[in-house]
Amino acid sequence: MRTYRAVEVSEPGKLRIVERPIPEPGAGQVRIRVEACGICHTDAATVLGVYPGLSLPRVPGHEVVGRIDALGGGVARWTIGQRVGVGLIAGEDGVCVPCRRGDTVNCQNPVISGVGADGGYAEVMIAEARAIAFIPDALSPAEAAPLLCAGVTTYNALRNAGLRGGDLVAVQGIGGLGHLGVQFARHMGFHTVAMGRGADKEKLARELGAHVYIDTVAGDAVAALQRMGGAQAILATGTSGEAMGALVPGLAARGKLIVVGVPQDAIRFNAFPLVFGGRSVHGSLTGTPIDCEDTLRFSVLQNIRPMIETAPLEQAADAYARMMQGKARFRMVLATATGASQKSTR
Ligand SMILES: NC(=O)c1ccc[n+]([C@@H]2O[C@H](COP(=O)([O-])OP(=O)(O)OC[C@H]3O[C@@H](n4cnc5c(N)ncnc54)[C@H](OP(=O)(O)O)[C@@H]3O)[C@@H](O)[C@H]2O)c1
Ligand SMILES: [Zn+2]
Ligand SMILES: [Zn+2]
Repeated sequence: MRTYRAVEVSEPGKLRIVERPIPEPGAGQVRIRVEACGICHTDAATVLGVYPGLSLPRVPGHEVVGRIDALGGGVARWTIGQRVGVGLIAGEDGVCVPCRRGDTVNCQNPVISGVGADGGYAEVMIAEARAIAFIPDALSPAEAAPLLCAGVTTYNALRNAGLRGGDLVAVQGIGGLGHLGVQFARHMGFHTVAMGRGADKEKLARELGAHVYIDTVAGDAVAALQRMGGAQAILATGTSGEAMGALVPGLAARGKLIVVGVPQDAIRFNAFPLVFGGRSVHGSLTGTPIDCEDTLRFSVLQNIRPMIETAPLEQAADAYARMMQGKARFRMVLATATGASQKSTR
């Protein structure tokens, strides 16, 4: 029997490498030979066993890039050998109310990579053909992978926020999501502010394109934003609700706090800046496969690449721990296939 290696959560908190028989794709599915998979902070909900609807064992990973090596019945658009990607929302049901309104990312009964289906911390993955995205050759697998969650999440949140060129846009939290958010904001033509805890990320944030860096530990971030006229948008990518809520007064009139980070603690804020100034707070969830393709195309067009550190599949537990400790600069990527971490030529 042919087998493949996968890293599964066998019990909460425990990632271990296992050998499994290679599965055949079912109707409407493809089998992917995984080349690279990013390690997103959301994977913690799988590793800790707390994602709603999760049952263990489960293979995490939803920033997956690889090549199709088998097609299930009825799969027409894709061919064997094509390089494709899979993100978090890995198949909508097509029948719930949001789906029927065309809002498939908010499907009420989706397939979620690494939660309801095994994800990309593996050599092989089965994916729903309707949920895969085409990967351009200009990107190496390890560079493309983070764009399929961290990338599309920040790209979509910014491009759908009704902003205009030159607007003051702040990105709070310079991690996997945030370091891409800074690049997208800069390349979409916004006056880009990066906000991180401490001075050590300032140099990198400026290299990523931030016009301004605010060290949220050293000073009053709200006052700094207000001195610049207030932000038309703050893209909140951090993992602290307390830190997010405190930023609302840093918005300009009509400004938006766009929540993409999913902290465990509550986001609290005062009603006054909301009412007096018409400010708003809203959330944004990743994107659809075609949004992923838009993200990848924009990244190629504007020379945007994630800043990554790679690790082999068997070191997934260490790489995950490094991400959780906030040490990754800025995305850990499992480079599962030989050569997956090569840098693309620009
Ligand atoms: N909306 C979506 O569709 C979506 C998609 C992917 C991920 N997420 C969520 O987005 C969040 C970030 O994911 P990631 O992969 O970017 O994580 P990550 O690489 O681990 O980065 C975590 C970020 O949180 C910030 N942070 C940590 N503790 C903080 C605190 N006490 N106060 C303020 N900031 C703090 C860090 O900011 P510093 O720069 O200050 O250190 C860092 O930028 C997670 O909650 C994840 O679940 C949501
Ligand atoms: Zn993610
Ligand atoms: Zn649905």
